[in-house]
Amino acid sequence: MPFVYINEISKFQGQEVTVKGWLYNIRSSGKIIFPILRDGTGLLQAIVLKNAVSPELFERAKELTQESSLEVTGTVRKVPEGKTAPGGHELDVKDLKIGQLIPADQPFPITPKEHGIEFLMDYRHLWIRSSRQHAILKVRHEIIRAVRNFFDDRGFTLVDTPIFTPAACEGTTTLFEVGYFDEKAYLTQSGQLYNEATAAAFGKVYCFGPTFRAEKSKTRRHLTEFWMVEPEVAYATLEDIMALAEDFITHIVKSVLQHRRSELEVLERDISKLEGIEPPFPRVSYDEAVQSLKASGSNIEWGGDFGGADETLLSQQYDRPILVHRYPAQVKAFYMEPDANRPELALCVDVLAPEGYGEIIGGGQRASRLELVTQRIQEHQLPPEAFDWYLDLRKYGTFPHAGFGMGIERAVAWICGLEHVRETIPFPRMLYRLRP
Ligand code: 4AD
Ligand code: MG
Repeated sequence: MPFVYINEISKFQGQEVTVKGWLYNIRSSGKIIFPILRDGTGLLQAIVLKNAVSPELFERAKELTQESSLEVTGTVRKVPEGKTAPGGHELDVKDLKIGQLIPADQPFPITPKEHGIEFLMDYRHLWIRSSRQHAILKVRHEIIRAVRNFFDDRGFTLVDTPIFTPAACEGTTTLFEVGYFDEKAYLTQSGQLYNEATAAAFGKVYCFGPTFRAEKSKTRRHLTEFWMVEPEVAYATLEDIMALAEDFITHIVKSVLQHRRSELEVLERDISKLEGIEPPFPRVSYDEAVQSLKASGSNIEWGGDFGGADETLLSQQYDRPILVHRYPAQVKAFYMEPDANRPELALCVDVLAPEGYGEIIGGGQRASRLELVTQRIQEHQLPPEAFDWYLDLRKYGTFPHAGFGMGIERAVAWICGLEHVRETIPFPRMLYRLRP
């Protein structure tokens, strides 16, 4: 009997096949039982008719409990006009083997009733089987696929960057320290500094991997472990990477709309909002953003960084992502190139997602003069010995370059329309969560 996945079942119409999975749901009415199977690729309704199977088999099917593992063999049938079933096909059951029957008195912990979020997070290893979580993680995969395709199709080389690092990239307050034989190391906050080295070797590069920040705040946008994709482009300016970020986001949204529409429907996402994501995205200077925030009642002062609430307020004013550029250098990382016309500003950009989602991308043009980078490392009180190699990039053929980083989980939260980033990653790591 061919073993098939449910998402390919339509190719086997009229044939006998075996499907292996778990019981999603079951209902019965006297002489007929309808177990619904789940195999990770879809849902399939099976039909067990009392007079078509042995009495033992009929009894076995009646006992099935939610999430018991099973294999079902039967004939694939297209659902007749006027009737509905998930996937449009059904299975007329001939045989049914139970892998493990979950006892009715010790049922699967997650039932269709409402559970609190902490309970669900404690059972994350089981919760990911549910249809909503499944849809979110399928969209996450599509976003990652779109990210890689976007860069691969544009001549970028994927160059992985290390996870153990000797120093901070994004400020010393969020470093995770780890013992590294007889010295200290830190988990990477960003692959950017290494990307700058590989950009000089390959021209256009990207890295994509886990990054770590000891974020002590409990917000809906922060994880302590998250995945970041970071392109870096030799000889690019701030304007160039703003255009790149715009094309990149548009590509990702289009890919999800094309390949994961049904998952967005499961999530009850307002798809029209995503369909409107088209270039050009508004360019808003930091100066303008501060003015507009003040006008809407924020108590932001020029020179300060935006808080989550400010970003929400700003991004709610537009129907597509906005590119906020040229923040004061004092609120940004050490490596930013100053604006030649106003050296107090950094040539940087944050992309804020619409609908109040806030920052999903941060990036900019990198400082290229040796003297300036040396001075900034001092001003930020970073250990100079850890940056020798980085300064070499300014000694041996320094070059203008720019890049950005996008946190995958923030992008997933926005595209799926979720309240919190905790559901966007299979096993989230947060201030109060290290398990499961
Ligand atoms: O703005 P950030 O800190 O920029 C950098 O790390 C640069 N070195 C990137 C570069 O230019 N190559 O972080 C970039 C993005 C943010 O916009 C956000 O999407 C995500 O990373 N991010 C987080 N996501 C989840 N949890 C956190 N704690 C995050 N911190 C940053
Ligand atoms: Mg940032």
